[in-house]
Amino acid sequence: MASQTVEYDPFSAEVMNDPGPIYKRMRDEAPAYYNEKWDCWALSRFADIWRASADIKHFTAAKGTTSAHLLTKVQPVTPMLNLMDPPEHSKLRSAMRAYFAAPEVAPLESMIRQMARDSLAAARDAGGLDAMGDYSSLIAVTVACKVNGLPVEDGALLNDLVWRFFAREEGTEGMTADGLAAFGELDAYFRKLIAERRKKPGPDSVLQTLLTTEVGGEKLDDAAISSHLAMLIIGGSETFPKTFANIARRLAEHPDQRAECVADPSLLPDAFTEGLRYDMPTQFLCRSVTKEIEFHGKTMKPGQPVLFLYPSGNHDDREFENPEIFDIHRKPARILSFGYGAHSCIGINVARLEAKVCLEELLAVAPDYQLDLDNAERLVTDFVQGYAKFPITF
Ligand code: HEM
Repeated sequence: MASQTVEYDPFSAEVMNDPGPIYKRMRDEAPAYYNEKWDCWALSRFADIWRASADIKHFTAAKGTTSAHLLTKVQPVTPMLNLMDPPEHSKLRSAMRAYFAAPEVAPLESMIRQMARDSLAAARDAGGLDAMGDYSSLIAVTVACKVNGLPVEDGALLNDLVWRFFAREEGTEGMTADGLAAFGELDAYFRKLIAERRKKPGPDSVLQTLLTTEVGGEKLDDAAISSHLAMLIIGGSETFPKTFANIARRLAEHPDQRAECVADPSLLPDAFTEGLRYDMPTQFLCRSVTKEIEFHGKTMKPGQPVLFLYPSGNHDDREFENPEIFDIHRKPARILSFGYGAHSCIGINVARLEAKVCLEELLAVAPDYQLDLDNAERLVTDFVQGYAKFPITF
């Protein structure tokens, strides 16, 4: 194999600003990349990430899955569904699964549609809207509250905490002090709610299930339930708006494909999948090696973190023909955007429903909306990249 000449550090300005060219070099020159500073590995080819994601014999999620857990180590590992290994993970996940199943999620459509119409009606008078804050963010957090059994009127407050948690600042590798404080505030919010629900049960929901389910023969304590809820609200409220902004952008940049979607909205689920492939916000999630394993002649040792560079895999020409072309008709057999294996996204049906309705309603009101990239705000982060504000005009 060629020696490792490409340089990759998830916190370098180059990677945070425009990772695509580096990912391509990694795929071609160093598909099992070793970073000495962090003593970690990075996998960049689709097939390798796919294989490793399903491999519970050599990898664990229980030591953390983010750079804040495993590289900078500023975030402690707390009980969260995505940080558990089988068999406890499988047990808890199956207790929650019903709330995320397609038939259970389908009745949310009317609520999502009404919220979308209300936002768009206000936007029509104003001449446009922020496709995130006023629209997809508000919808995603409200839906996440509903599914998890949290008060929907607290959506805006929770959204604010989640965005503070994800904020990054120049010169700080990983989470900011304010981000950690926001996580503490989320915890305080959930503990208060848990105490209330222990006295007076709420609606049938994920929270209600967490209050009663046993993991490893014991009921979950308040700290564990709070931590699970934090993960659920973060997962449910933050990735969708970033994905939505990217898709709104790509459709506007490809007016022919947007016109096809306007004429035939049944194409929108495929447009969503292609948008997810083309611009996946989550740059990586990690696992730690539990048992020595080899990739491309390199040996990964127990304890070392491995970054799965999903957006790189989604642009791998070993998997996708002409991966740099945005094509809603691609119909890929598989993509990495919802992960794969035991931890694949449990909220996939929720995300798909939100995307379908938000795109249908937007295109019905403003089939030729314009981008306002000068006033868009992009987040410069190692972990989840994308926009923080994405204004469009009608
Ligand atoms: C476009 C939207 C979304 C994207 C791109 C996305 C992506 C992902 C990815 C890549 C994972 C894998 C994590 C890993 O392997 O460590 C994941 C897991 C997860 N997602 Fe999503 N997600 C989205 C929306 C949602 C929504 C709407 C919810 C909930 C309402 C949700 C809840 C979760 C949960 C709970 C997990 C952890 C599952 C487990 O560990 O068993 N996600 N998601």
